[in-house]
This record gives sequence, structure tokens and C-alpha cells, in this order.
Amino acid sequence: EHRPDRARVHRGHVFHVAGSPRLDEAASALVSIPDGALVVGEDGTIAWCGEYADLPAEHDALPVHDVRPGFLLPGFVDTHVHFPQTFSVDAYGGGQLLEWLDRAIFPAEARLADPGFAQLVASAFCDRRIAAGTTAAMVFGSAFPAAQDALYTETRRRGLRIVSGRGIQTRGPESAAPLITGEDEAIEAVRAEIDAWHAVDTGDPATARIQVAVVPRFSLSVTPETFRNLGELYDDVRERGVYFHSHISENDRPGDGEIDATKALYGCERYLDTYDGRFLPGSQVGGSSLLGRRSILAHAVHCTDGELERMAETGTSIAHCPTSQLFLGSGTMPWRRTTASGVTVGIGTDVGAGDEWSIARVLGDTYKVHISEPGDAGVSLDPAQLLFSGTLAGARALDMEARFGNFDAGKDADFLVVDPRRWQPLSDALDYGIRSDAAELARDQLLFTVLTVMREPAIAEVYVGGGRID
Ligand code: GUN
Ligand code: ZN
Repeated sequence: EHRPDRARVHRGHVFHVAGSPRLDEAASALVSIPDGALVVGEDGTIAWCGEYADLPAEHDALPVHDVRPGFLLPGFVDTHVHFPQTFSVDAYGGGQLLEWLDRAIFPAEARLADPGFAQLVASAFCDRRIAAGTTAAMVFGSAFPAAQDALYTETRRRGLRIVSGRGIQTRGPESAAPLITGEDEAIEAVRAEIDAWHAVDTGDPATARIQVAVVPRFSLSVTPETFRNLGELYDDVRERGVYFHSHISENDRPGDGEIDATKALYGCERYLDTYDGRFLPGSQVGGSSLLGRRSILAHAVHCTDGELERMAETGTSIAHCPTSQLFLGSGTMPWRRTTASGVTVGIGTDVGAGDEWSIARVLGDTYKVHISEPGDAGVSLDPAQLLFSGTLAGARALDMEARFGNFDAGKDADFLVVDPRRWQPLSDALDYGIRSDAAELARDQLLFTVLTVMREPAIAEVYVGGGRID
């Protein structure tokens, strides 16, 4: 699609992590251009990115959109956020994960059975995403197909990127009854959602803005039969680029917490095995597994080395959600051990257990929780690693790194304008904060300031594929 009005030069302070680095290479891949130019072509892709002074002559005739003293950042990628919990960031469950789900969340999610209310939630969900600068997201869906239709319709109308799927539950406590379906209905609903929405906008899962995932809530919410059926279904649709999304190893309270309850229910040693087809009688590794390059598991706070190894081997990614983990007392994903396994770690808000919509806020918590890990595990993350985690690593987790995540030429122009004049604390930090004379330190400090001090009001403009979203 060619739109002449999209072709322009955006001029401001450019920050991005270029190329396709590993996490430990993010610092050397960080690009900071104080007077930078981001050139967007008519097709909405990035034609060029560099010093404004070096703008190639071929782009001279383009209109210049000058956002100085603003910053141009890649759009944030939220690898785990719950659509039906849009109004639940304040949900008080009087306990940890399982109590919170039972008392606060299942009843809140049941309200989306009303299509009128679901439409309102879909609209608010898109508003929150845009305000937070989340251009791409893996969205944990509602149990209700009509609510999912509203979500996709609204998302398409706004022009955002989304991967989502109906939250599947075939068993659970009484409070979850409105969210539970029979086995056949669960599978039929997944198939119908894939057929109706997966990559229908372009027909190509490499470029589509709307894509579908198979989303069992977590192992406690489904049965071995559901897993068997979902595994077979996933074998069918995997090559169409359909995703898999769920939760893993979040709450380790001894005895009655999520992890112990899951192992007891399935009679397995490893939580991950429930998603890997391994616990089913007679099943073999490789057959009907839900793991793969388009699979994202949220949390992974208490995974064993063996589980991490298996995730790395299958290309499965982790959505790291420290803000949510603080809220539910889930502990902290061990940063060094997890990333050392080679697994791609993206960042998730996990709204509503996460009480912030902004990936920048979650990056602030990421910094705080990992510097606080005990002993040798503690790590002071580099600002470039934070930016990487909230953008490029998220695109990689979504298996869409070739499409977005940074300002490499040829990618879709998904970016934000952060204007410090719209958020006084950021403006003050930039004007009066202490700056090092050493260029590299100054650059790192500046990025740290932008990421940790910015709040939603500072996000002045949001673009996907070069088009302004509102
Ligand atoms: N595990 C199963 N369901 C949920 C949920 O809604 N939120 C979180 N944080 N964990 C879950
Ligand atoms: Zn979640």
C-alpha cells in the first residue's frame, strides 16, 4: 500500500538498537543520534536513518517533520498483556496468583460475555496501548468469541499490530464457570478464530498486522484431553504461522501454589512438559508439542535449567513481567541464568496483574528487580539492554524481527515521538540533571533518563508502518 502522505523525514534525537544483536551485544549496537533523521517511504518502511546533516540528496524534497527536542524511539513491544483485564489493574484479590484469579479476575473477565461491554473494553484497550506507545503486542484474549471479534475489529481500525487468541479454559473453580467450555467447543472456537482472523489482512504471516495464537490459560485451566486436541490442531496450523501463548511457573508457593498444583494434577516432574506433549501417555518428544519459534510463555520465574534449555532448543520465548511479579508476590525471574540459556526474553506488562500499561515503566521495574537479586545473581542492566528488551527482543519473541523492532532500513516504520515538553519531570531531568563529560556515559545516562522518567503523557505521536495512529 503506497501513501504519499506517509513519505517524510522525521527529525529528532534517534535512539535504537541496530542490527540483530544478542542481549550481550546490545550496548555496542546502540545508536544515538542527537540530530537524527528517520526517513519513511511511501510504502511505510524505513528508507534511511542517520545524521540529519548527512541526509541523502534523494530525500531532499520530502517534507520534514521536526520533533526536536523530542526523541524518536522504536515502538514498544508488549509480549504479554490481558485484554479482558483492561479494567483490572486495581484488582485486589486478597492473596497471590490463584486467590487473585478466583476472587477478582475470573469474575471480571466474565463480564465480557456482554458484547456491548466487550466492545467498550476493546476500544479502551486500544486507547491504553496507543497512549503507552505499544505498537505490537501478544494479547491474551477473552473467553468470548464476540469479545475477540471486537478486539480484532477495533485493533484493525486503529492500525495497531496484534497477536491474540481466545483464552481457553476447560476446567477450573466455580468462579471460572462462565469462562469454561466443553472440549469440542474449545477446539472449534480456536479453529474459527484462526480462520476468521489469522493474517487475513495480508494473507502472509510474515507481514500481517493481525495474527492469531492458540491460548490455553495455563495448565491448571485445561485437561490432558484439551492439550491432546490443541497439540493436534497446532500441528495443522503451525506452518501457517499461528502462535502459541500461555503462562508458566509463576507462583511457587509450596503445596497449593500454581507450580505444585500443576505437577500434582498432571503427575509430571516439569511444568514445561505439559506444553510439550511429553506428559501424555504414549506421546513422544517432537510430536504435538506446542513449543516453537512462535511460542511465548509468560513469567518463567521458577523454571529449571532443563526447562530453559528445552525452551531455547525449540525457539520458545519468555515474556518477562516484573511489574506483575511484584504485584502478585511471585518472585523474580533470575535474569542472568535465564538469559544465559539463550532463550529470547521480551518484556510484558501482564496487565491487569501488572498495574502499568507502559513498557517503559516495566523496564524501570526490570532494572530495579534485577539489581536487587541476591549475591552474584544481581545485575545492573545497561540502558541499551533495557531498550533492546522493550523493542527488538519483543519483535524477536514474536518472530517478527525482520519486520519491526528497530530503525534498520527496509523495516516497517513503527516508532514513537517522545516529547519532554509534555512531561515536566522529564524536561527537568534533561535540563538540570547531571551529565557526564564522557560521551558514552552521557549517552547511556540520557537513554536511562528517557526510559525511566518518561510517562504516558510524554508520548506525543505513535506510528505503525509509517502511519500515525490515534
Ligand atoms: N495464570 C493464569 N491466568 C493468569 C492471569 O490472568 N494472570 C497472570 N499473571 N497469571 C495467570
Ligand atoms: Zn498473564
